[in-house]
Amino acid sequence: MTPIHQVIKNQNTKINPIWIMRQAGRYLPEFREIRKLNSNFINLCLNHELSSEITLQPLKRFNLDAAIIFSDILMLPYGLNQKVQFEKGFGPKLGKVNIDEMLKLDEVDFVQKIYPVYKALEKVSTSNLLINKNTIGFVGAPWTLLVYIINQQSPKKNLKKNFFNDNFLINRILLILEKFLKIHIKNQIDNGANVIQIFDSWAGLLDEKDLPNYVYSPTLNLVNYVKSLNIPVICFPREIKNYKEFCNIVKPDAVSIDYNVDPKKILRDIKIPIQGGLDPKILLTDKETIKKETRRYLDVFKNHPYIFNLGHGVLPETDPNMFEYMVNTVKNY
Ligand code: CP3
Repeated sequence: MTPIHQVIKNQNTKINPIWIMRQAGRYLPEFREIRKLNSNFINLCLNHELSSEITLQPLKRFNLDAAIIFSDILMLPYGLNQKVQFEKGFGPKLGKVNIDEMLKLDEVDFVQKIYPVYKALEKVSTSNLLINKNTIGFVGAPWTLLVYIINQQSPKKNLKKNFFNDNFLINRILLILEKFLKIHIKNQIDNGANVIQIFDSWAGLLDEKDLPNYVYSPTLNLVNYVKSLNIPVICFPREIKNYKEFCNIVKPDAVSIDYNVDPKKILRDIKIPIQGGLDPKILLTDKETIKKETRRYLDVFKNHPYIFNLGHGVLPETDPNMFEYMVNTVKNY
């Protein structure tokens, strides 16, 4: 069994496997080289030769325990015929939602539109670089995708006042998302993903009273679906205040924590395997600090099933040597 499966399925506390969110990305010069020649990010994700190569770039350099497929949570609205673009220095920009277009779409059209993502997964998962390692597939949680679909860009600190105005529209979008997220998950698994992570990057924007409706129920539904396919599922409900309640209700196989979570408190609150936590900004400091902070997480979780990761994606300005130093600190612990 792979180290990550041992931690998640067998609650092994003796090993600390490591992978890093956004490990394939802009901090790597070999990624920037490819990116320079491919200005359209969506098209890059749809080029299975390049996206599989990018996925494996960090595994060629570092002793990581998994590859996460180079794709994006916004490939889903793209597959649903919403316009999705990435602008340098701005982030994602989506077109106005056309619910009738979305409702017309069937499974075949959707899969055809993002088919190269699955082809890349097949390539990656059969690579020699991944022997006894995992291939991680992922989706955005329904709530976070709803935010992008309606807001048409990353929200700053708050949702717009009129975000919830059209309840009928919201409910129809959530139903469409449920259907196509399941299709997307199933296809990733059929093509080699053996862990699924659900990113709920904007869970922290919601009032506590809205969590059951927009986060707990739709995520529980997806978690149960992944479990029914016998693949472990990790949830990352970034910046929610109450991870304990989330875990008690949604019951993922493992939970990924953001860097505002106190590791000692979460250790007391949560029984399931834990992943992540370290602030990505720590990688912008010096070796001594990186070692100290990396070990702080490993120390706290030394008797708990724990997968090492950051508390959010690795920052583009990170020095790959510092990244490597962190990986080696974990491996030599
Ligand atoms: O290595 C990996 O982790 C796998 C690939 C991956 C990407 N996006 C590639 C990417 C994953 C898992 C994601 C998830 C994703 N995408 C999330 C959830 C995680 C999170 O960060 O909270 C979200 C919210 C998105 C949407 C998204 N995609 C945004 C907001 C941006 C712009 C970010 C920025 O700083 O400009 C992206 C673009 C994106 N996705 C890049 C990469 C490597 C950068 C693309 C580039 O300009 O080269």
